[in-house]
Amino acid sequence: MKIGVVVLAAGKGARLRSDAPKALHTVAGRTLLGWTLDSIAPLGATATVAVVGDGAEAVTAALPDGVGHTIQDPLLGTGDAARLGLEHLPPDVDTVLIVPVDMPLLSSDTLRSVVDTHHRSGNVATLLVAAISDPTGYGRVLRDGDAVVGIIEEGDASDEQRTIDEINTSVYAFDRARLTTALASLENDNAQGEYYLTDVIHQFAAGDDPVGVVTTDEVEALGVNTLSQLAAAGASLRRRINKRLMDDGVAMVDPDRVYVDAGVTVAAGVRLYPDVYLQGETSVGAGAEVGPSVHVTDTSIGELATIRFAVIDRTVIGKGAIVGPFTHLRPGTDLGEGAKAGEFVGIKNSTIGKGSKVPHLSYVGDADIGEGSNIGAGTVTVNYDGFEKHRTKIGDRVRIGSDTMLIAPVEIGDDAFTGAGSVITEDVPPGALAIERSPQVEVPGYAERRKRRAAQDGDS
Ligand code: UD1
Ligand code: CA
Repeated sequence: MKIGVVVLAAGKGARLRSDAPKALHTVAGRTLLGWTLDSIAPLGATATVAVVGDGAEAVTAALPDGVGHTIQDPLLGTGDAARLGLEHLPPDVDTVLIVPVDMPLLSSDTLRSVVDTHHRSGNVATLLVAAISDPTGYGRVLRDGDAVVGIIEEGDASDEQRTIDEINTSVYAFDRARLTTALASLENDNAQGEYYLTDVIHQFAAGDDPVGVVTTDEVEALGVNTLSQLAAAGASLRRRINKRLMDDGVAMVDPDRVYVDAGVTVAAGVRLYPDVYLQGETSVGAGAEVGPSVHVTDTSIGELATIRFAVIDRTVIGKGAIVGPFTHLRPGTDLGEGAKAGEFVGIKNSTIGKGSKVPHLSYVGDADIGEGSNIGAGTVTVNYDGFEKHRTKIGDRVRIGSDTMLIAPVEIGDDAFTGAGSVITEDVPPGALAIERSPQVEVPGYAERRKRRAAQDGDS
């Protein structure tokens, strides 16, 4: 047997109320197309072809090497899409597995069991079905006794047929030659005026070809047509991801409030608090504590780091570093081992050396800070002159006084100090103290004088 997979991915997804093609809607960090192809990959099929239509250019660009495609235009229904897919499969493929693009919960095991059941039975068609609590919108499975005799779409069903809770998932295995023949004689005289792939089931059954059935559960059967279903898929995928992480030794205070995308790696011994989002190419090292309320994208978090109430994007966080609360680390931040970015601190495109601290109320942009330095509260690297960005360099063991404005480009040497409230426009040599502020002026008796003036103004 040689299996060819046809992925039905041309649909518009009108019910998602979005201009983006359905196949590229993202859930738990992966597109619907990505989830579908991931479940197909382990089957080792001879060929996989995606039928694309709506947003064909973007969808095609998202296909990995080794997955072919064919364009469906106009969109005439699932039967038409299957026909186009079949034409694109190599001639030696004898068994076709049809998979819709909108079932992100579908597992490889379930697909394998459809294929295996199909082969063992020798039937011309094998259908993946499920009994679900709210079958609204799905095609219902019509049976005569145990035998499947057809599928009726929601829009074409009678009130009585709509009470059937066994639904067609849209995953099928077929004998290729028989499916090709059946598709050639489809009609589109139905509620949607489309060629329904589901109609071939009736054809086979009526022609005395028994149709095989594999049953899956409600979770895997979910087809994403609406934003509610997309959210439900996200919740189920998260439950799966979090279960796997917890089994692997990641502690979660409240797993229902932890949002780890597919593709993120979290080491054993990490502790995740509520409202943590780990997205993109993110990794978290052993012993780190993340959350509550942390949003992380494309970031490497080192072992034993502590991160609370923060937004972090494309950053490297060293071992044992401390971030938060209320911290924004923007792209290009590299926080060294044991370094700190504390409350109300924003950092971008900057290196903070080992053990250096930016504890409070500071902006550090386009700066290189050495090791063991301390940046006083309220410090700003003034990196933008209105035309260009300039860099600030701060050496090792430097003490920047509170409320220092560092007007870049500027360099502060090793072991140097700046006085609180200074506006530093010139380089500071190693070991020096730079102080820039006017001498303090005192006006004795000022309060009395002020009071007298107010009294005089009142008399006039
Ligand atoms: C389909 C089935 C229904 C089943 C349900 C499961 C038909 C007629 N109905 O209905 O029995 O219960 O899936 O979720 O097959 N597509 C194309 N080209 C088209 C139309 C659709 O490629 O011209 C693709 C879509 O992108 C999607 C899949 O086919 O991946 C199913 O289409 P969709 O519109 O979602 O069908 P449903 O109404 O959900
Ligand atoms: Ca669907």
